[in-house]
Amino acid sequence: MGSKIIGLGMFAPPKTLTNDELEKLVDTNDEWITTRTGIRERHIAPPGTANSDLCLEASRRALADAGIDASDLDIVIVGTVTPDMPLPATACFLQMKLGAGRAFALDLNAACSGFMYSLSVADALIRAGRGRKALVVGAEMLSSITDYTDRSTCILFGDGAGAAVLSECDNGDGVLSCHLHSDGSLWELIRCTGGGTVNPYGPETVQNRLNFIRMAGNETFKHAVTRMVEVSHEALSRNGVTIDDVDLFVPHQANMRIISAVGKRLGVPDEKVFVNLERYGNTSAASIPIALAEAREQGRLSSGDLLLMVAFGGGLTWGSALVRM
Ligand code: ACO
Repeated sequence: MGSKIIGLGMFAPPKTLTNDELEKLVDTNDEWITTRTGIRERHIAPPGTANSDLCLEASRRALADAGIDASDLDIVIVGTVTPDMPLPATACFLQMKLGAGRAFALDLNAACSGFMYSLSVADALIRAGRGRKALVVGAEMLSSITDYTDRSTCILFGDGAGAAVLSECDNGDGVLSCHLHSDGSLWELIRCTGGGTVNPYGPETVQNRLNFIRMAGNETFKHAVTRMVEVSHEALSRNGVTIDDVDLFVPHQANMRIISAVGKRLGVPDEKVFVNLERYGNTSAASIPIALAEAREQGRLSSGDLLLMVAFGGGLTWGSALVRM
């Protein structure tokens, strides 16, 4: 018994932050941002929003797309680094708001690889017989940990959520394989060090701006390209297929230059690479499920298609999945 994707949905808050607006906050300009990243705008949740509110909208759409009710779910997983609060899990809030009373719910922190990790865990739980239907969400409110005085990061990040419904599948299609990797020795490259046990919340944490995300962008860039290519090859060779067999390639939407470099090294033609980061920026764990929902909406992801997804993020973490839709 394996699992297959039977529903997709996404949600991004309506308000956008454009490159022109960022020019008024920090010393940057539209030309620098578009040529270095490909990003033109990102969506920002209004004050008073909880991450689980974004999850809820995306999940409702995914459940409607799947044609099932929240009460049919056995498993709810939310991949995120921006939970509603440290305790309880955002997935528990989502379970409550959805009315998924039968499901068990958990959060998973793998930064930008959060959806890849969550998909892999949900697939493994279904294969192990721990449930028949899972809701897998990648959702972030990165605006809550973005320092809008730091031009090297505030131009990158946005808010949003994407969701996929997985159901058991016994015909060998669906999720063909997932491949996950981490390297904790490089944790400092992407970090938000305030608010945990090392630097608990307090005036000093805020004074030293430890509650914001920091990134060594250039170094991260090099690791991202190498690892995303490697783990894509791993998925292809495990399944005895080549990149030519892939109908749609959905990489994590962090930077257009990373996507282009990975696509070029893998030999994927541009028309098979899904890109929407110009409108969302980097939404971390949400980027791949948002892309999947949009790809489906645009008719670029149909039943029978072979889909290759690949992500890379803080941890460091990276992963891929090959899926027959
Ligand atoms: N506007 C204008 N100038 C800027 C800006 C800005 N917004 N930001 C940095 N600069 C300047 C720098 O100060 C530097 O100036 P200097 O040469 O005078 O010192 C110059 O531009 C070049 O800076 P770099 O950091 O070398 O620029 P780079 O080409 O590497 O682009 C970027 C930076 C966009 C961050 C890129 O490195 C990147 O995308 N990295 C990977 C991000 C990623 O993949 N993250 C993974 C997931 S994130 C997660 O897990 C949450």
